[in-house]
Amino acid sequence: MNVQRVMVTGGAGYIGSVVAEELLHAGHEVLVYDSLAHGHRDAVPPGAAFIQGDLLDTAALQRAMSSHKCEAVIHMAAHSLVGESVANPDKYYRNNVVGTLCLLDAMRASEVRTLVFSSTAAVYGEPAKQPIEESDPVAPTNPYGETKLACERALGWFARAYELRVTCLRYFNAAGATERCGERHDPETHLIPLVLQAASGMRPPVTVFGTDYPTPDGTCVRDYIHVKDLARAHILALGGPGEGQRSIAYNLGCGGNGYSVRQVLKVAEEVLGREIPVKYGARRPGDPPALLASSDKITRELGWRPELQDLHAIIESTWRWMQRTRAASGSS
Ligand code: UFG
Repeated sequence: MNVQRVMVTGGAGYIGSVVAEELLHAGHEVLVYDSLAHGHRDAVPPGAAFIQGDLLDTAALQRAMSSHKCEAVIHMAAHSLVGESVANPDKYYRNNVVGTLCLLDAMRASEVRTLVFSSTAAVYGEPAKQPIEESDPVAPTNPYGETKLACERALGWFARAYELRVTCLRYFNAAGATERCGERHDPETHLIPLVLQAASGMRPPVTVFGTDYPTPDGTCVRDYIHVKDLARAHILALGGPGEGQRSIAYNLGCGGNGYSVRQVLKVAEEVLGREIPVKYGARRPGDPPALLASSDKITRELGWRPELQDLHAIIESTWRWMQRTRAASGSS
């Protein structure tokens, strides 16, 4: 393996901190660049260098890349709340799109040519078929997905014009935790942490958003992928697109039939051995009934396969991480 010096933007966030951990395990050198607007300083793994900085600050990005002699960037710093993006698209276009352009300026000035970009299943909108393949139509239904797609498209052109090597990874539903890193969003909007927080009395009952979807049990179906599996794909992606290609996009999910909201609740009850307090409510605007990835392309081309796809294991790792974090902070 070629050891690389890698900048991880957003490396103090949930997925970013696990990517930083996996890079270190694989022997790479890591510089985390994060504004700490959403991330946590203590999530940055020991062994990674850290610079607090804004994505819109091209000069600071360039200084950081040059001083650490970075050879590749994994770009994960982004706003990612669908509902907020509808209410405040300016925030999303500025940070996600303009911020990515600033990063590309700094990369070109520092002659860094390899980029792994964190994208999303939200680029597909409400897909006509499942599982979704990378060649299926993209049609985002919210500004968050639009900003990620705008970046993907810009990256395709930049890669050709400026000889970059770009890999876009379209995440489905990241979940689970490692020994030291787990989901700590404020506000939390994701199903699994909300379910576990409701189970431990940290918040009121979880609301199931809609029971009348055209799915086997009427609730939305998603493709949950362990954050560690997701992180491993970034390391493979550092090798860049294959011969003759400058940019490429891969789905990242576990495939299979996914899990409905009711199934997630059932598995959580099995793992915790207790009942989860639940309410049934209306649909959340913009939620597609099902999002299931075909990850055949990344398996075929990069040899990536999920290793932790069992939902019990995913929920168990989240629960253990929550217990440890609460014990460390002195909560009962
Ligand atoms: N859900 C509930 N109750 C809650 C929270 C979620 O029923 O309190 C349901 C949602 O309706 C959805 C499922 O649980 O069906 C999963 O919801 P999450 O919010 O955990 O995740 P999403 O599927 O909405 O989000 C994911 C990614 C986003 C991406 C989006 C694309 O996290 O980055 O898919 O639609 F934009």
